[in-house]
Amino acid sequence: MSVSFTRRTALKGAAGAIALTGAGGAELAAAAPATARTLASPAAAGLLAAAGRKAPGNRRFEGKISALLKQMTVEEKLGQLQMRGGWEAGMDAEARAGRLGAILGSDSAAAINTLQRAALESRLGIPLIFGLDVIHGFLTTFPIPLAQGSSFDTRVALTDATVGAREAAASGIRWTFAPMVDVSHEPRWGRIAECYGEDPYMNAVFGVAKVRGYQGDDYGAPDRLAACAKHYAAYGQPEGGRDYNTVDVSEQRLRNMYLPSYMACVYAGCATVMAAFNTISGVPAHANVHTLTEILKQEWGFDGFVVSDYTGVQELIPHGIAADGKDAARLSLNAGVDQEMVSTNFLTYGAELLAEGKLSMERLDDAVRRILRVKFAAGLFDRPLVDESAELTAPSAADRARARNVAARSMVLLRNEGGALPLAKTVSSIAVVGPLGNDTQNLHGSWATVKGSQIPAVSIVDGIKAAVPGANVTFTAGSTVTGDDTSGFGAAQDAARAADVTVVVVGETADLSGEASSRSDIGLPGVQAGLVRAIAETGRPFVVVLINGRPLTIADWHELAPAILEAWDPGIEGGNAVADVLFGAVNPGGKLPVSFPRTVGQIPIYYNHENTGRPFDPNSKWTSKYLDLPNGPLYEFGFGLSYTTFTVSAPTLSTSSLSASALQGGARVQVSVQVTNTGSQAGDEVVQIYVHDPVASIVQPVKRLRAFRRVTLAAGASTTVRFRLGAEDLGYWTNDYGGEFVLEPGEFHIYAGNTSSTESVATLTVT
Ligand code: NOJ
Repeated sequence: MSVSFTRRTALKGAAGAIALTGAGGAELAAAAPATARTLASPAAAGLLAAAGRKAPGNRRFEGKISALLKQMTVEEKLGQLQMRGGWEAGMDAEARAGRLGAILGSDSAAAINTLQRAALESRLGIPLIFGLDVIHGFLTTFPIPLAQGSSFDTRVALTDATVGAREAAASGIRWTFAPMVDVSHEPRWGRIAECYGEDPYMNAVFGVAKVRGYQGDDYGAPDRLAACAKHYAAYGQPEGGRDYNTVDVSEQRLRNMYLPSYMACVYAGCATVMAAFNTISGVPAHANVHTLTEILKQEWGFDGFVVSDYTGVQELIPHGIAADGKDAARLSLNAGVDQEMVSTNFLTYGAELLAEGKLSMERLDDAVRRILRVKFAAGLFDRPLVDESAELTAPSAADRARARNVAARSMVLLRNEGGALPLAKTVSSIAVVGPLGNDTQNLHGSWATVKGSQIPAVSIVDGIKAAVPGANVTFTAGSTVTGDDTSGFGAAQDAARAADVTVVVVGETADLSGEASSRSDIGLPGVQAGLVRAIAETGRPFVVVLINGRPLTIADWHELAPAILEAWDPGIEGGNAVADVLFGAVNPGGKLPVSFPRTVGQIPIYYNHENTGRPFDPNSKWTSKYLDLPNGPLYEFGFGLSYTTFTVSAPTLSTSSLSASALQGGARVQVSVQVTNTGSQAGDEVVQIYVHDPVASIVQPVKRLRAFRRVTLAAGASTTVRFRLGAEDLGYWTNDYGGEFVLEPGEFHIYAGNTSSTESVATLTVT
């Protein structure tokens, strides 16, 4: 195939309004605010940015902000740039003095109102904004984000964010530090739990759903929160998987892999962005002019504010880029961070920096203006206090039902030999074995709020008891999660021998994933793999339920287990949701949003990798592989089983050829796929569309997910699923520092299937 690279079409200046396409398109379109409906397709954000179109922004309050700015002293301006912890002493005095802009971590209406009253007594009465990590629920804990990604259903994230916003806002919280949209190929990194997996498109569409769920049409509404896309940028790829560690990326990798999810959130109107703890190619994200100012604020037109991460400004000193706190403030403010979380360098040194000409009044005013813009839009000037009598203290039955539904939709059936699952409801005795089988705490996951985690989650043994009230259900721990004590194995084996079937519940405690929870060995912790083996040795029927916040290496035992259900950290209704799936009330339809490696030595292993010049060939030694492992992951991205079976047809295209200029002008190719439930019960399948550009100016990933849809089909039913792909799906960002999105003529391979390993393909020629 010959492609003329000189004819490549830069998309700058192109592109009109792009309709919502691809993943969960219909649901997102329905849920989208009117502006986002025309502007902010997660898929199209890149194209809009490339075309010079700015994010929607919020300019409703500029006159009021200008009037306030005129009255503010330098100290009051710097006060707006300061966030402190709600637990710190003396915050009321700081607020009263106008030396405080925001509070992190208060979650009671009374505490929030007390501090807010102090701020209202300050000279100008500018209200504080109260932020909290409402990441997968506030009172009603939903499954962790990685689990939500497994649903391949953006309504799941929309539901979580809508409920979390309503509950948190009733306590006076106005701002959440979510969504986290860090693409990660690093399962050792505990924070992979907080994102939507290894794919940029997944993180973009789920991030946008979260932004919409939190913010709605107007985050000034009493049941909404301002959102915060974090951690900007490329935090998901720390060297060695060790949290906070170095990230060194090419410009093209940054723009094609790590930035699209942020871009999509910003174009969806996300109010704020948080800087990341890592360096990006030698420059800490908190001092990075390129990512913060050139790309986020100038290219994308983001007009909200950038908050530092927790002491992220201060950390420029140990990073080795700032000599002291004053230097850190200078670098960070000038790079584009607008508000400092917990450390106090902006407030302490801002006036000196101004006096010395190292910080301009223009930049200070810009930071203040951005913060005030969000405060006005959040309705804080009109409604600074929260109604304490309306504070919520417990999840409602309806929200629990939502959490249960979401958790079950987010589970992935990894293995099911001989139809081991679903279990018959007529079973007379069940042994629940494993240290997480009766757990009511860890099921909440790593980012449950203090309030949320004080409410016990439904344990798996209790969920099973409720599902089969007539059965004799026993619980035997067998071991702890960590530690090396195997003395409980015998009792677990006895329980298994006495029961018709055993449910082995093993995995990670919540504190083994999340922030600062990297692991070098991502197998089952402690002796739990031995416990699975001990149950297998009994020869009795059993299934395994995994509770975990990251992909695990399970190659050493997975073939011993007749069935494996990946339940992740499923949240407050986890036990009921697990039981729903185990007994077939819900037919599992989730897919992995992240690869499961065979061993840690394969990491990073991800479906959207580039080809080498010597791609793996089983018949040749001199190709890219490990001598001691089969090629590829144990379970790949996009994989997941069902209790029924499906066929997904080869894709058919509405046209085999389209011109680059037509695509640039908004033309699209329609991809049609027939999906049929060939089994004997209703179930869900996720149709996935991947794109590959086999000859391009820079090497392209072997596959890139560009659309998906989860469909429910009755036994024997069939439907045609249609997707529309455009320039934004076929083009890519070049390695140019200034950012150029190009669509190169030539052949494009368009794959369809129900997993990323699909080989079912059609070819589109772009002329
Ligand atoms: C540090 C974490 O990196 C960030 O995700 C979180 O929002 C802040 N702490 C505030 O809790």
